[in-house]
Amino acid sequence: MNENPIIVALDVPTIDEAARLADAVGDAAGAFKVGLQLFSAEGPAAVRALGDRRVFLDLKLNDISNTVAGAVRAIAPLHVELLTVHALAGRAALEAANDAKREEKVLAVTVLTSFDDAACKEVGLPPLAEAVPALAELAFAAGCDGVICAPPDVEAVRAVCPKPFLVVTPGVRPPGTDHDEQARVRTPREAIDAGADRVVIGRPITRAQDPRAAARAILETLP
Ligand code: C5P
Repeated sequence: MNENPIIVALDVPTIDEAARLADAVGDAAGAFKVGLQLFSAEGPAAVRALGDRRVFLDLKLNDISNTVAGAVRAIAPLHVELLTVHALAGRAALEAANDAKREEKVLAVTVLTSFDDAACKEVGLPPLAEAVPALAELAFAAGCDGVICAPPDVEAVRAVCPKPFLVVTPGVRPPGTDHDEQARVRTPREAIDAGADRVVIGRPITRAQDPRAAARAILETLP
């Protein structure tokens, strides 16, 4: 493995807590995820506070193409490595995001990884086995650098979107740890073996007594 594939989710409400966590994990993570909670509370300063660490800005943009492009242009000065747009924003918005990006990579969220087939049906989507690869193909065709999907859907995505298209997956748990509210869980190793490039991990690392040791223990399980 060339790069550390672990992205640690900084799901905390303040810059102080995020900075403390990032320091505690140190170089045992390849990147850090700033999501809606931290960004809503602290704004772009939360990204700047992480200094030269690699950042995944997970805002799941979902709007008309003009607005998505404006958001991507506004994000560019933050020099994040990865950012997310909803594939369900549609082809025009995905293309607009990719036209507007500079050095950052644009990942499309296929279907929220908390969804099951019943949740898909409720919002008028076909079952996951159909919806996820279809949205991944749309993202690929629209020029995205990769997608976010749940671990059980990685193989179906890989079948239609070969590398170097990126597949990043949350919803992983190291062997023997609490699944929290997650349903379709796999281990980080299983996700990588199925074809994922990077894994997003939150609580198993951020709630550990020694977050750095927890991240390093997960790294040891990877190929
Ligand atoms: O559950 P955990 O604390 O590891 O979650 C880390 C990140 O992964 C969260 O920020 C959440 O956005 C994302 N996640 C997800 N789908 C899940 C579980 C978590 O997208 N099923």
